[in-house]
Amino acid sequence: MNKPIPVILDADPGHDDAIAWVVANASKDLKILACTAVNGNCNVYKAAYNSQRIMALIGLDVPVARGRNCPLYRQRLQAPTNVHGESGLDGPPLPEPKRELDSRSAAQLMADVLKESDEKVTIVATGPLTNVATLLLGYPELKEKIQTISIMGGGIKYGNWTPAAEFNILVDPEAADIVFRSGIPVIMAGLDVTEKALVYPEDVEAIRQIGNPVSEIVWRWLEFFYKFHLNLGYPGAPMHDLCAVMALIHPEVFRIEEMYVEVETEGYYSVGQTVGDINHITDHQPNTRALMDVDRRRFIDLMIDYIRSYSEVK
Ligand code: BDR
Ligand code: CA
Repeated sequence: MNKPIPVILDADPGHDDAIAWVVANASKDLKILACTAVNGNCNVYKAAYNSQRIMALIGLDVPVARGRNCPLYRQRLQAPTNVHGESGLDGPPLPEPKRELDSRSAAQLMADVLKESDEKVTIVATGPLTNVATLLLGYPELKEKIQTISIMGGGIKYGNWTPAAEFNILVDPEAADIVFRSGIPVIMAGLDVTEKALVYPEDVEAIRQIGNPVSEIVWRWLEFFYKFHLNLGYPGAPMHDLCAVMALIHPEVFRIEEMYVEVETEGYYSVGQTVGDINHITDHQPNTRALMDVDRRRFIDLMIDYIRSYSEVK
């Protein structure tokens, strides 16, 4: 077995963020060093509380810290509460936090984890990139300690919050710009792939049948998340954020294209767009491995297996 990849999980949980953490924690191929909460699906106070409650549910006991409650330069853009609910993670009741919030800021905690690690660390960022950019701005000397930044964000072909922009990038385009320009390899799970990673009602039923304490929560999260997407005309619930985790542990289920990606920070209609040089028109070397397609069946089966693994006595 390969050595597990050391990771920091940065998110704004969020139902699909939460499921990404459920799988990351179940995988023996990842070693989670810390969790950090970012403003996005809900404000950062709710995101931090949700992070702590997810950690209590899955038995993850690592430092957890809160980031700033707004993007780097812009006003807060809040997801409407019908996406993830008033709490940011509506649905079944969750256990109360077992681990106190760390007194450090998210960026400070990330920096300390990087300094203390003998190996390079991968950051999995499934919300706006505010915390990651704050880390890169404050501690540029630590860039070399970061192996990869695996994000859910953007879309090479289209957006979901505007025709051009996906939510996570639109919330903090300047932060995303800093990440893509950092020189650190980026794995991008954009809408091109995440909207193909759909959970259908029969998959929810398969998870319900598992009957362990984690699956009991996950199927109810999926039920909530699915309702919102059904109203929008989706045939299932997209597991956006799980793609950023699965890309590290099961890259074989994706079709991946290397390309240069930059972020539009000024366009009137296109602010927040991830502009991908998919046809290699420029001289730029690729900075991104963009996930473009997924074997949905294998992806969902893996997800179900990881959820089932919580039935095993640890
Ligand atoms: C992204 O926005 C959030 O609602 C999801 O958690 C995901 O990270 C999709 O645009
Ligand atoms: Ca998210």
